[in-house]
Amino acid sequence: MSLYSEKVMDHFRNPRNVGVIENPDGVGEVGNAKCGDIMKMYIKVENGILVDVKFETFGCGSAIASSSMATEMIKGKPLSEALKLTNKAVTEALDGLPAYKLHCSVLAEQAVQAAILDYYKKNNIPYDPAEFKCEHCAHEGEGTEE
Ligand code: FES
Repeated sequence: MSLYSEKVMDHFRNPRNVGVIENPDGVGEVGNAKCGDIMKMYIKVENGILVDVKFETFGCGSAIASSSMATEMIKGKPLSEALKLTNKAVTEALDGLPAYKLHCSVLAEQAVQAAILDYYKKNNIPYDPAEFKCEHCAHEGEGTEE
């Protein structure tokens, strides 16, 4: 019996794009208060394209697999497209996650959005708050950060 798909196991055992980007253009850090897992996403942006993405995840295997898959899905893409990445798309790309592990893929979606929001803010780039659907970013958009 296997709880996890081969893709989840593959991305868990050989996560892609793990690490830190020196002088990143944006960093997003999100966590799940319930399980205590933390995900940090670093992005490098050139002409509106995510030329590099790296992550550090202190968490469960599903969170590692989700962040790994998320980086693969957004690397080389325009920011506008990366913002549309949903946890559902990440889960599907992983050939599914057990229901009680779906929140791990939500962290990946949120970390991507938080990193892009950080990039916009640092560079004073006007953005549409409606594009940021994750709870974490919506919260920041209200100016109640930290
Ligand atoms: Fe919380 Fe996986 S158990 S992110």
